[in-house]
Amino acid sequence: MLSKSFALIISILATLVSSKKIFIDNDGMSVNQLLIPLYAGYEIVGLSMSFGSSSVVDSLGSCYTLLENYNLTSCIPLYKGAENPLIQTNDTFHLHEDLFGELVWQGAFSTSYTDSYNYSSIVYNETLPGALALIEKVKMYKDTDPVVIMAEGMMTTVAQALSIYPQLVNESAGLWIMGGYVDNQYAQTTGDAKTIDVNTDINLLQDPEAAQIALTASWKELMIGGNVTNYLVPSQEFYDRIIDRAGGLSVIEDTPYFKPIENVIGTGNYTENGPDANYPYWGEVVAASIGYPDLIKHTTSTKCAVDTGFYSPFYGYLRIWNKDWAPTSGVRTGDCTMIDVVDYDPIYDMMIDILFSDWRQYCETGNYTGLAGYS
Ligand SMILES: *[C@@H]1O[C@H](CO)[C@@H](O)[C@H](O)[C@H]1NC(C)=O
Ligand SMILES: *[C@@H]1O[C@H](CO)[C@@H](O)[C@H](O)[C@H]1NC(C)=O
Ligand SMILES: *[C@@H]1O[C@H](CO)[C@@H](O)[C@H](O)[C@H]1NC(C)=O
Ligand SMILES: *[C@@H]1O[C@H](CO)[C@@H](O)[C@H](O)[C@H]1NC(C)=O
Ligand SMILES: *[C@@H]1O[C@H](CO)[C@@H](O)[C@H](O)[C@H]1NC(C)=O
Ligand SMILES: *[C@@H]1O[C@H](CO)[C@@H](O)[C@H](O)[C@H]1NC(C)=O
Ligand SMILES: *[C@@H]1O[C@H](CO)[C@@H](O)[C@H](O)[C@H]1NC(C)=O
Ligand SMILES: *[C@@H]1O[C@H](CO)[C@@H](O)[C@H](O)[C@H]1NC(C)=O
Repeated sequence: MLSKSFALIISILATLVSSKKIFIDNDGMSVNQLLIPLYAGYEIVGLSMSFGSSSVVDSLGSCYTLLENYNLTSCIPLYKGAENPLIQTNDTFHLHEDLFGELVWQGAFSTSYTDSYNYSSIVYNETLPGALALIEKVKMYKDTDPVVIMAEGMMTTVAQALSIYPQLVNESAGLWIMGGYVDNQYAQTTGDAKTIDVNTDINLLQDPEAAQIALTASWKELMIGGNVTNYLVPSQEFYDRIIDRAGGLSVIEDTPYFKPIENVIGTGNYTENGPDANYPYWGEVVAASIGYPDLIKHTTSTKCAVDTGFYSPFYGYLRIWNKDWAPTSGVRTGDCTMIDVVDYDPIYDMMIDILFSDWRQYCETGNYTGLAGYS
């Protein structure tokens, strides 16, 4: 009994000393997207998992699997976010493709998409939908530790929250997003299918109206992790560093705690994984930039808006302007800070350190420890 109440006091203290708060909306979850904020000392006050590149059940499922693996379910609340875009439907999405060209990546609107998870194996907080949970958390901490919002999928959940509670822009610390590409036409034109894919802004294209609402709201800070998120990339060298740290591929395969590492390294062989498995670590760049702002080496202040004309080939594309030459009427523009340059090397190191840390006592103690035998 004594040790239990002692542990409780420690965990309350840990909550009190941790001052930075983050709320994450995503359309799926990878291990480092989840753990980088904790590693950087942020408390995750909520996760909402939305439709987008995955169906909503798969977004929830991939996140829940990670929370379970790292024993984080008791202190990180999981909510279901937006189940559909605001206006875009599966039909309009495909109609736009018929009119203006096919996308390489169609996310959960793809004709071949099938669910991988089943709700019966997922536990999440069904009391509130993600947008209301986001509002609740922002209100809760507005006077002490304003919540940073990180949106790594469509902007739907954020747009829903803004519609219900416009003060979100003043009561949160700001919005950071993955996506928001500009000047990528050459890459889309000259690259192979994978290059076209990663240079196409699916998060905005799948819900252009939500993107326009979220990216033109008057946030205290609006950070766009566009192009730079495409260049923190897997490589054989990175996979080898992970395998060496584990003491061999078989150790990773045979250790249940390392299960999430298999999603990072695939077979462990970059060539065998094939281009479709070796995607950039997009959300990880944004998460690391929030946690360690010194990693950001250059930014540009712009005015921005998202094309919401359905009969435009650029429906869902982000446009940026010089502040002095942006439209002042006709379209609402936002103040977007584009992240231009990020120092990637510390992020690779951080990701490996995170994978070989022990997170299973985090809810109890408020911190991680080294993993015995894998330093
Ligand atoms: C979306 O439309 C495509 C093409 O018509 C269809 O194959 C797919 O099953 C639809 N997906 C959903 C989630 O309705
Ligand atoms: C989900 O799991 C339940 C219980 O195991 C099962 O009855 C149901 O058919 C499953 N649904 C899908 C879509 O697989
Ligand atoms: C679910 O979320 C609501 C709203 O944030 C909260 O009041 C409630 O305590 C949560 N339930 C559980 C079981 O954590
Ligand atoms: C946010 O604060 C500014 C400055 O106080 C104010 O002008 C604006 O109306 C507020 N916006 C909302 C949506 O509350
Ligand atoms: C995108 O980012 C990469 C890596 O920082 C840089 O080399 C490239 O010039 C950028 N491209 C554009 C169009 O901004
Ligand atoms: C990866 O697989 C390729 C093709 O099977 C093979 O040629 C290469 O030697 C493998 N590389 C490593 C590091 O195992
Ligand atoms: C999992 O977390 C709980 C607190 O939520 C803690 O009591 C338990 O010891 C942890 N399990 C492991 C294996 O560390
Ligand atoms: C959490 O643990 C790490 C590694 O043991 C340590 O570097 C860091 O200072 C700790 N953070 C807190 C807030 O105690």
